[in-house]
Amino acid sequence: MPEIESVLHETRTFPPSEAARKKARLSSLEEYERLYRESIDDPETFFGREAKNLPWIEPFESVLDWSGAPFAKWFSGGKINASAVALDQHLGTPVENKIAFLWEGEPGDTRAITYVELHEEVCQLANVLKGRGVKKGDRVALYMPMIPELVVAVLACARIGAAHSVVFGGFSAHALRERIEDGGCSAVVTADGGYRRGEPLPLKPQVDEAVRGLKAVHTVIVVERCENDIDWNADRDLWYHVAVSEASADCPPEPMDSEDTLFLLYTSGTTGGPKGIQHTTGGYMLGAYLTCKYVFDMQEDDVYWCTADVGWITGHSYIIYGPLSNGVTSVMYEGAPNSPHEGRFWELCQKYGVTIFYTAPTAIRTFMRWGEEHPGKFDLSSLRLLGTVGEPINPEAWMWYHRVIGGERCPILDTWWQTETGSIMLTPLPGITATKPGSATFPFFGVDAAVVDEEGKEVGPNEGGFLVIRKPWPSMLRGIWKNEERYRETYWSKYGDKYFAGDGAKRDEDGYFWIMGRVDDVINVSGHRLSTMEVESALVSHDSVVESAVVSRPDDVTGEAIVAFTTLGPGIEDGDELRSTLMDHVATQIGKLARPAEIRFTDALPKTRSGKIMRRLLRDIASGRETTGDTSTIEDLSVLAKLRGDE
Ligand code: WTA
Repeated sequence: MPEIESVLHETRTFPPSEAARKKARLSSLEEYERLYRESIDDPETFFGREAKNLPWIEPFESVLDWSGAPFAKWFSGGKINASAVALDQHLGTPVENKIAFLWEGEPGDTRAITYVELHEEVCQLANVLKGRGVKKGDRVALYMPMIPELVVAVLACARIGAAHSVVFGGFSAHALRERIEDGGCSAVVTADGGYRRGEPLPLKPQVDEAVRGLKAVHTVIVVERCENDIDWNADRDLWYHVAVSEASADCPPEPMDSEDTLFLLYTSGTTGGPKGIQHTTGGYMLGAYLTCKYVFDMQEDDVYWCTADVGWITGHSYIIYGPLSNGVTSVMYEGAPNSPHEGRFWELCQKYGVTIFYTAPTAIRTFMRWGEEHPGKFDLSSLRLLGTVGEPINPEAWMWYHRVIGGERCPILDTWWQTETGSIMLTPLPGITATKPGSATFPFFGVDAAVVDEEGKEVGPNEGGFLVIRKPWPSMLRGIWKNEERYRETYWSKYGDKYFAGDGAKRDEDGYFWIMGRVDDVINVSGHRLSTMEVESALVSHDSVVESAVVSRPDDVTGEAIVAFTTLGPGIEDGDELRSTLMDHVATQIGKLARPAEIRFTDALPKTRSGKIMRRLLRDIASGRETTGDTSTIEDLSVLAKLRGDE
């Protein structure tokens, strides 16, 4: 399996410190092993017991029904509401007056919101949505900056049983429209703009463009954030602050079936447009709740900060649903890590006394580049746990995080999971697991992970293979919106009975899992999944381009960078001007995050005799590597020589 050959040989091990062991929720490695065994051998008992900690409106009758595989049913018969799990269960307890969010805007404005206040605003917005005719089973798109109103909007949808579809604010109008149309959304919640690196970034104009001519969208609710000039459509648009202030704060949560859809979240796949990953209510909430409890060990006095954007799954599970269902206080930050200075995150950690911090490897590598002097200016002694997610963390970045941010005191939780898995799947547990830099270590409860070969046979220690999950788990996706075939094809067709994650992995001689990156045509730029296909389509949609092949090359900061090999139409001159036009074009079509780092013009692309582009070769060229592997199927070898510049 040359594509996923392992080159990493990391031998350092960090046993849990005495302090972490004392604070651990589980008493020992043996206890973890016993519980893990139970969760695999007898998931009904394990998850049945854990799920009883959620506030069910009506109790469930069965734990798992896998008879309709690959469509799982968890907690059938149970009625529950995700906003009530997040909020209502805390009313009348000491948590109600506790701060749910310590929010900080990029310009330095702040807002502290208690659980009871958040509950009130969620009920009000839920009533506004209802008043506009949004009802259970509808879909609502949210296209917002990182402001408290985004959390309110997510929970307001959940409260009335409308599925939310959050679209990251960095996506273009085009990408937003595609998602609104696919999801069949009838309302959009947005803001006039949000702050990013000192400037207001307009959002409402993108929404106007995205919904132009879409009759299904009858309502656009707009938060006033930057007071930037915007157009107004009086039939369709309403101001958030006006509507909410006039709405009643009495809105009982809709009793949802455990398997009713909670949300859609679009993510990139290998082929075709973005996939609307569908999550349901009971199982997802249990996954978010349990992982926060065991992995982040959320305790009453913690101040927790996840730096992700709510536009990604990490924000859904680890800014909103998981932390709130655990009744913890979270920090939420609107802006960029270097605005107004490169120590901004550490300043906030000090200011709020953050104890648990969760970020992405790409951010850690960026901080490394900026230099130790920035975190060095702040007191980070409140930190006790550090997490990472989004891509493989290289041991060097892991060590830096451990030493500079964690003061060699905090366990590093390298958590592997996906939009599809809903919650953390592979992870160390603090105070229990001895960590190794670069390894996501062991499966969480109920996760039957394995590394297998093409035939589905488990591979030996240190052999590369494909990561699969052999049993259903509560927070697993329940499908791709309106596309059952694609769901079966993408995740279940390779092995039939095992979930195919699309990542390469190995297990070492101690059973530790090491993730080796994607094995399909998905590129991971700064922890954001992009499909090569979408970037190619964006390029080809430009008049001058006839064909394009997009691959990635390793990048020190972003993990992977996009390289586009592009063939132009007859008579079209290449050059730097066209290159930057095309880069801008991709940014407009998809969003800035998809902007290629490099565009190489070529007369032809290397193809097999059946006409398939040989991306493996292009990847080698883009990374400046020698071409390895088989070139015998290539149609015209001179193309390769030209691309390398040998001719
Ligand atoms: C990658 C993010 C290595 C992986 C929650 C996965 C990781 C994809 C890790 C999912 C990790 C995520 N180590 N790789 N700790 N975490 N990945 O859907 O390739 O945005 O398949 O979900 O990110 O990305 P997604």
